[in-house]
Amino acid sequence: MKTESSTYGLIDMEKTLLYSEKEIQKKVKKIAKEITKDYKDSKPLLIGVLKGSIIFLSDLIREIKTPIEIDFVDIKSYKGTESTKPELRLNTTHKIENREIILIDDILDTGKTMQLLKKEFKKRGAKKTKICTLLDKPSRRQVNIKPDYKGFEIPNVFVIGYGLDYNGKYRELPNIYKIKEK
Ligand code: IMP
Ligand code: MG
Repeated sequence: MKTESSTYGLIDMEKTLLYSEKEIQKKVKKIAKEITKDYKDSKPLLIGVLKGSIIFLSDLIREIKTPIEIDFVDIKSYKGTESTKPELRLNTTHKIENREIILIDDILDTGKTMQLLKKEFKKRGAKKTKICTLLDKPSRRQVNIKPDYKGFEIPNVFVIGYGLDYNGKYRELPNIYKIKEK
């Protein structure tokens, strides 16, 4: 495992490689294959949770071999490494009624974001809403929610890269790293 240090503001961070680009792509292909098989006869609406999901979503849809549509929601839920109450800030443009929805996110943590979105789409008449997440941190769960599609299960560590940020930074990194304050 490679380790390097960087100074972010006044906090000294240590970042350790968790998953390489290659490992991530392999997992993305596996999830895309499952979605392709499960949605052969319907056109699901994949809804990316901004902003963390954008890289995962764009890689994923290019590996799905059945017609899909995409949309986005924006949720505010993290300040630094502290989870707060999620709020819906931007809504979809597609009609949700009778649609098969797949919510796409970078990571499932406390589960509060996905719980909020599942409730919201049920209210709006979705036929079914599934959850697809690249990373899953089940030890942090505060509500009873499980992903229908997932890439990697990880312990209680804070991760950055491949769309995941720390205070808006590091989303552009192609690999996923875990970070901790030094
Ligand atoms: P939840 O509502 O607690 O499940 O929060 C999920 C959201 O929190 C994700 O969409 C991420 O934006 C953010 N999040 C949770 N854990 C991490 C992490 O380790 N790194 C970066 N963002 C995270
Ligand atoms: Mg997020």
